[in-house]
Amino acid sequence: MKYQIQALDIERKLPDNSYIVSKTDLKGRITYANRIFMDMAKYTEKELLGVQHNIIRHPDMPRGAFKLVWDTLSGGNEVFAYVKNLAKDGQYYWVFANITPDHDPSGHITGYLSVRRKPRPEAIAAIEPVYQKMLDIEKQHHARDQMDYSINYLVDTLNSMGVSYEEFILGI
Ligand SMILES: Cc1cc2nc3c(=O)[nH]c(=O)nc-3n(C[C@H](O)[C@H](O)[C@H](O)COP(=O)(O)O)c2cc1C
Repeated sequence: MKYQIQALDIERKLPDNSYIVSKTDLKGRITYANRIFMDMAKYTEKELLGVQHNIIRHPDMPRGAFKLVWDTLSGGNEVFAYVKNLAKDGQYYWVFANITPDHDPSGHITGYLSVRRKPRPEAIAAIEPVYQKMLDIEKQHHARDQMDYSINYLVDTLNSMGVSYEEFILGI
């Protein structure tokens, strides 16, 4: 089920000490959603289970940010990211997400787990212009190579600051 949602310029804030939790299979289809996820995203459990996690993808998020997430996860590593999400009612909410691969006893990745909390306003203020620039770059290029260009911008920006992606994300 694909929803046509009009993104509104209205923020819904995740309460302090509330954690949004979800699990997915290897393809990013939701297999578990906690109550706070449903409350924030305004979807029922029935609407969420079995569907792609991009159901809450916000148009302000650059594709390059998600490529980075998936590249890190498929390498077997955890990843941290600030994500602007789109609720079913059109409102948006920012989260600071940690996503980790789930493994079976023999070490194979069986799916992914994400826990998110409310980000500090200073962190959103730091990441928002970076995402905006990445999105602008993506809009200027063909779908085929837009992610390469936007990730190059991110890498160049981090290099000029002398920090890794993780140092930047955990430091803002
Ligand atoms: C465990 C897990 C949690 C995710 N959480 C989110 C999320 O909160 N918001 C989001 O937009 N994408 C999330 N994603 C990434 C989506 O699967 C997807 O890559 C992203 O929304 C971009 O959509 P697209 O690949 O169709 O462009 C998550 C992926 C995984 C594996």
